[in-house]
Amino acid sequence: MKILIIGGAGYIGSHVAREFLDRGHSVTVFDNLSSGLRGNLFPEAGFIHGDILDYTGLSRASAGFDAVVHLAAFKAVGESMVKPEKYSVNNINGTVNILNAAVEGGIKNIVFSSSAAVFGQPEYIPVDEKHPANPESYYGFTKLEIERFLGWYDKLKGIRFAALRYFNAAGYDIKGRIKGLETNPANLIPVIMEAACGMRETVQIFGSDYDTPDGTGVRDYVHVSDLAIAHAMALEYTSKNDKSITVNLGSETGISVLEIVEAARRITGKPIPATIVGRRAGDPAKLTASSKLAHELLNWTAKYSDLDTLIKTSWEVYKNQQ
Ligand code: WQD
Repeated sequence: MKILIIGGAGYIGSHVAREFLDRGHSVTVFDNLSSGLRGNLFPEAGFIHGDILDYTGLSRASAGFDAVVHLAAFKAVGESMVKPEKYSVNNINGTVNILNAAVEGGIKNIVFSSSAAVFGQPEYIPVDEKHPANPESYYGFTKLEIERFLGWYDKLKGIRFAALRYFNAAGYDIKGRIKGLETNPANLIPVIMEAACGMRETVQIFGSDYDTPDGTGVRDYVHVSDLAIAHAMALEYTSKNDKSITVNLGSETGISVLEIVEAARRITGKPIPATIVGRRAGDPAKLTASSKLAHELLNWTAKYSDLDTLIKTSWEVYKNQQ
């Protein structure tokens, strides 16, 4: 298929582009490079330097594609609470532009990068797709609103979508082909990697008094290569079955902050200084996914999301920064 990957120069988008190329699809990346990197582009893929807020450019760029994968969004939870305007414009208006350009261009399938952030505080775990969606952050709200837009465009315009609710994306391409670092990362594993290679002094552990086995927060880390595979499977599903889906993507395994720090020390051989500080506002003690539905519908399960693979593939990239 001819696939336009919007946000395809970013951390997850580049892995998705790689997976579609590996499967023999024709790929064009559309990215404004605000956080995406030229170094994340592949010579076999086309590239359009454009912005989803420029409707004319976007609709021109979208012509002739069979499907769109949409990963172009701001994703800093904390920032979204102080600058909601930025998230409204880019995430929501930008998506409306993508949907309208898809209608105009006759594109019938869209794969959307959604998030576990749509759920908010978990009422039970593992979180399945029936769990109520009450986002705690404005960022999560934008993702949920976009899912609702997708639902309407499905009903009214016949655009089939796959909304993929990622849990904690982590790791790097298992074949080592992607090496772009995120700037100013706030997520745990890149923060730990930066401490391991001397880019920062210490890791702050946000709380050690949670109701978890070691007192630190437990999350469901899912390898970015597993996520990339899910995008390809999801597009195959929506296009073959002419049916939209919303699925959770996680490893179904809970890993604590301390377990990650310890595994990173073992794998990197670096001391990785860590300090326990207070809890971060809004953090649940535990969050894990049920990915049963993704398994049933897509035959997807996480294959590369074990702790060692997450850390080893990340270290392969970060060790070059020492
Ligand atoms: C993981 C664990 C922290 C940093 C976020 C978004 C979510 C989704 C995935 C996009 C928690 C602890 C972290 C640090 C720490 N994103 N931690 N020190 O918050 O689970 O999920 O990314 O859609 O919407 O909220 O991920 O990596 O920030 O935190 O102790 O410096 O690590 O408290 O327990 P989170 P995270």
